Amino acid sequence: MTVTAVVGAQWGDEGKGRTVDYLAQRADLVIRFQGGDNAGHTVVNDLGEFRLHLVPSGIFGPRATCLLGAGTVVNLDVLADELAGLEAVGVDTDRLVIDKRAHLVLPFHRALDGAEESARKGEWEVGTTKRGIGPAYADKAGRHGIRVGDLLYAERLGERLEMLVPRKNRELAYFGLPGTSVDELMALCMGWRERYAARIVDAVPLIRDAVRGGKDVVLEGQLGVMRDLDWGIYPFTTSSSPTAGGACVGAGIPPSAIDEVLGVVKAFSTSVGGGPFPAELEGPACERLRTGGPEVGHEFGATTGRPRRCGWFDGVAVGYASWLNGFTGISVTKLDVLDTFEELQICAAYRVEGRLVDYVPDTATQELAEPVLEMWPGWLTSTAACRAWDDLPANARAYLRRIEELAGAPIRFVSVGPRREQMVVVDAP
Ligand code: GDP
Ligand code: IMO
Ligand code: MG
Repeated sequence: MTVTAVVGAQWGDEGKGRTVDYLAQRADLVIRFQGGDNAGHTVVNDLGEFRLHLVPSGIFGPRATCLLGAGTVVNLDVLADELAGLEAVGVDTDRLVIDKRAHLVLPFHRALDGAEESARKGEWEVGTTKRGIGPAYADKAGRHGIRVGDLLYAERLGERLEMLVPRKNRELAYFGLPGTSVDELMALCMGWRERYAARIVDAVPLIRDAVRGGKDVVLEGQLGVMRDLDWGIYPFTTSSSPTAGGACVGAGIPPSAIDEVLGVVKAFSTSVGGGPFPAELEGPACERLRTGGPEVGHEFGATTGRPRRCGWFDGVAVGYASWLNGFTGISVTKLDVLDTFEELQICAAYRVEGRLVDYVPDTATQELAEPVLEMWPGWLTSTAACRAWDDLPANARAYLRRIEELAGAPIRFVSVGPRREQMVVVDAP
């Protein structure tokens, strides 16, 4: 039994949801450790297609307890809709619990996210999901935040809101937005308390006992390292850390307890939102990766519906992700999207002002980076029905081996379609 961190190796939307769903078939505990409803994790199974924003992708597992960990920021109205959608198709959601230490996303966080984004001009737009994530984490870091556990202590909550509301009203007024009030927020919170009290837990014993008891634990990341607050393309990042280190902090697990760090690696590159993207393609090639034919592709944001920017596989970004996270293995997704390409390219290095660079430099330098591209022959065969390494066409295996080399970690899984069973298991962790 293992503790596995599943983290995005690129700019998000690598297929973490489907990977966690696969691993959750045998998991006892699945923990979302950072982020909020900015996530859109797609799981496709016999019940339908689900875009999970907050509920961990382990919810379809037969026995996994699903935890929204301390490092998350939670909009409980969004969670209510998501739970209702799952219950409507017969999914048992009683196993979903929330750590008392997780922070609340309140209505003014969303309003401020939208206003702050509108105030960013031109190339400085982050392109946030406008879900209130940045403002909620800013309140957390500023120590003004309201935690989910505060809902259980009305007097304490009232005192926290009394301190918070004047500050937030000044910010809202700065942007010309209507103010909020303690009474309004208190009423919202008391409604949430009624609805969620039974799900709010102190997760320390839950996690400690699972790890000590040798249970199977999966830590589910949101986004990817290129949008990490410290190591991503700041300021075009999210406001938390989607790395394996972030998993320790956000879930409440010591680094030494993590057995496997599984990097989820899309077989090409996509990015939603602003910031540098060295291997980006424009025109028909981008369109082809985005749509990928009638059965595949679908590179549109699972949360915002925006078209994703697309590019060739970026081995510099994935090598950097592997170093920062300490990948013990990778799960390569969406190989099938490349099935119809006669020729593929891989970015193996960046050229910055004439110098070759083999890691992701700081944002200002990265803006000057040009991709150094290698050509790879395509395989022009459908891989959608492949279930074993040897079923894959030789050119696909060669392309994957190059990805493995650039990632510096062995391939454990290759996914060849969005459904759970469309998975080639190379060497299960
Ligand atoms: P996440 O945010 O990392 O969980 O990824 P998303 O769900 O946002 O984006 C991945 C998209 O690719 C979703 O639409 C998935 O259903 C789809 N997908 C995942 N794996 C595969 C695959 O191997 N092949 C194809 N064609 N689609 C996939
Ligand atoms: P999953 O978990 C892709 C991007 C936004 C924006 C930046 C900051 O499905 O991979 P935020 O709302 O977090 O303040 O936005 O990060 N972004 C995502 N891109 N997938 C996501 O989630 C994303 N969550 C945020 O586009 O550039
Ligand atoms: Mg997504």
